Amino acid sequence: MLANLLAVLLTGSTSLALAVPAADPSCTRDLLRRHTESYLSAQTAGDPLLLLGTAAAAAVVYTEDFVSRPISASVLNTPLRIAHNRSLLDTTQCATYTEIIVTDPANPRVIGTQIRFNPSGDAVQKIETLVTKEGDWAFNASLTYFYANRETENNLWFTIPEAERDSRAVIQAAADAYLDLFNDKSVVVPWGTPCNRLEGSWYTGNFTATDSCNVGVPSGVAIKERRYVIDETVGTVDAFVQFGSRPDSHEFRVEKGKLRLVHTLTVMRNVTAGGD
Ligand SMILES: *[C@@H]1O[C@H](CO)[C@@H](O)[C@H](O)[C@H]1NC(C)=O
Ligand SMILES: *[C@@H]1O[C@H](CO)[C@@H](O)[C@H](O)[C@H]1NC(C)=O
Ligand SMILES: *[C@@H]1O[C@H](CO)[C@@H](O)[C@H](O)[C@H]1NC(C)=O
Ligand SMILES: *[C@@H]1O[C@H](CO)[C@@H](O)[C@H](O)[C@H]1NC(C)=O
Repeated sequence: MLANLLAVLLTGSTSLALAVPAADPSCTRDLLRRHTESYLSAQTAGDPLLLLGTAAAAAVVYTEDFVSRPISASVLNTPLRIAHNRSLLDTTQCATYTEIIVTDPANPRVIGTQIRFNPSGDAVQKIETLVTKEGDWAFNASLTYFYANRETENNLWFTIPEAERDSRAVIQAAADAYLDLFNDKSVVVPWGTPCNRLEGSWYTGNFTATDSCNVGVPSGVAIKERRYVIDETVGTVDAFVQFGSRPDSHEFRVEKGKLRLVHTLTVMRNVTAGGD
């Protein structure tokens, strides 16, 4: 896609280029990695300023479980002892996605956060976070930690050698096929083997070579408002979506065009009623 945009720029037709600006070279993986580290420090300390720096908090769009609120009243103000974290770095969009698991019995949480920066990556523009807890889909942070940590320890989220990486389009298409399946059983999903789904604390497979993710999905659910963060180095896309009426994150690891790992978070509490 970037190549297409550059071609458009070079041939002087700028309408498409204006709609989707080309990546700014100053938004590097190193910069995004430092931002994710600042985000983790902020959450650990309960101090949003460790992420925001000098950016005016009021200028940052912030949502929690897809409901707007001031950052001063956000989960970032509660210190949390983080047991597990893993991040995607998207230099094309200058954005990150971070999965956090907190097993501390005082405040068990499984959190997914997309952060979007300005094109050069020096200021936070938007933070969207899903903070799952008791009451949410298959919530059990200790069990989620067990499965997520087992995948990490077995290096299932390894960095893919450059020559074997899928394009952003292929990675996103695999995710979209899976998400479309919930409302259209005729969609062909690129199932890989082995493949496992971690949905809340529910694990579909047995951690064996024959595990399949094709173990059924509900029908008649339109999955809308997809906001992606894509990291080709790990073949992974996270999509924040409206899953029917539920705020939801679906993260997909794709290898050679096929789905290998899926992690989901689904908020089941009625957050619009103002509850916590
Ligand atoms: C996040 O995870 C990395 C390993 O992937 C670890 O080195 C780092 O200490 C973790 N950060 C926090 C704040 O737990
Ligand atoms: C979470 O899962 C663990 C491991 O299966 C279990 O021991 C524990 O009782 C579960 N916690 C809750 C609150 O269900
Ligand atoms: C996991 O093992 C159980 C018991 O052997 C089996 O019934 C189930 O189909 C297996 N699941 C997958 C995804 O292979
Ligand atoms: C959530 O609460 C609001 C306000 O009380 C109510 O209007 C809405 O129907 C509820 N939604 C669900 C899914 O229960």
